[in-house]
Amino acid sequence: MKWNAATAVLGLVAPTDALLRFGCARLTVQRLDPLVTPGQNPSPHLHQIIGGDSFNVSMDHPNHDLPSLSTCTSCQFTEDFSNYWTAVLYFRARNGTFKRVPQIAQAGMEGTQGGMVVYYMSDALFDTAQRSSVTAFKPGFRMLIGDASYKSRDQSRDFRQLTYTCMENQGSRSPESIGFPKTPCKLAIMANHRFPTCWDGVNLDSPSHREHVAYPETGTFESGGTCPSTHPVKIPQILLETLWDTSAFNKKEDWPADGSQPFVWSNGDSTGFSSHADYVFGWKGDSLQKAMDGHTYVSAPMLKTQSIAQQNKCVAKDMVRENFDGWLKELPGGNAIF
Ligand SMILES: *[C@@H]1O[C@H](CO)[C@@H](O)[C@H](O)[C@H]1NC(C)=O
Ligand SMILES: *[C@@H]1O[C@H](CO)[C@@H](O)[C@H](O)[C@H]1NC(C)=O
Repeated sequence: MKWNAATAVLGLVAPTDALLRFGCARLTVQRLDPLVTPGQNPSPHLHQIIGGDSFNVSMDHPNHDLPSLSTCTSCQFTEDFSNYWTAVLYFRARNGTFKRVPQIAQAGMEGTQGGMVVYYMSDALFDTAQRSSVTAFKPGFRMLIGDASYKSRDQSRDFRQLTYTCMENQGSRSPESIGFPKTPCKLAIMANHRFPTCWDGVNLDSPSHREHVAYPETGTFESGGTCPSTHPVKIPQILLETLWDTSAFNKKEDWPADGSQPFVWSNGDSTGFSSHADYVFGWKGDSLQKAMDGHTYVSAPMLKTQSIAQQNKCVAKDMVRENFDGWLKELPGGNAIF
């Protein structure tokens, strides 16, 4: 779990100036969670996963080296063999059956099958200078944001900026809500997962997969807030955007008669407050650090890329073998609605 502090210095010397934004197709949809329930097949709820195809039931460090075990990645940047995953959104019909909500690509990434858009930032998204120095993650680093058991607004205050955007069209970016949108969203519900940006500089993981990272002590990441002394190392902010195509489920007569909204996460959450996402770092060599040091905004000429058709071809083996499509009598795993 320890990482050699001497190597940290290397990441801190160069002036850093980069924001990466890239698409990743779905790698797989499976009831697996190598971070929270390693070795358990199936895991308690269904996930949608992107990144390198070494994704597996267990991914222990240092045995599981993502860049060397992967043969492809579903991401645009071919040196990124990391895995990223979230729960899966379902629509609950009036008759109590469930249907998986499809995912759609963002503008400019048409043709991408499922998946997410990933950001790595030094500073706030709209700060084109991206001047702050950040230290890229180390092999074996992983983290979890959000809590799959949370069901109230109060609990969700433990985390910052796990939000939803009710998208009218591809340009919609505000407002963001903490719970599920309460009215139909013409194009999609976008789930936004922003990870913490301060690291303790020592541990690649921690018991809850959250204690080794923290939010800025003062202000926010967006306001350039400083990291707490317990977690002094500024790491890139990862943001995941997932577009759930709700357009087939927007008829008022299909929505619950009591005026509530009909979408649930695959863990059974009908509130949206249990939104969570997992990250296992897997960039090849120092490619991520070089990119963050690269004086670019959105593009990254120093990184190798592949086409959307190639991204779509990278698929992980189905290790669970269960059906999660069509109208289901219960959620995969039989999770109760809360
Ligand atoms: C997953 O792990 C099993 C057991 O270690 C191994 O046999 C299998 O090849 C792995 N699959 C992938 C895609 O790496
Ligand atoms: C349940 O409702 C959905 C959506 O209206 C419908 O497509 C499906 O056939 C219904 N299933 C049953 C068993 O009535």
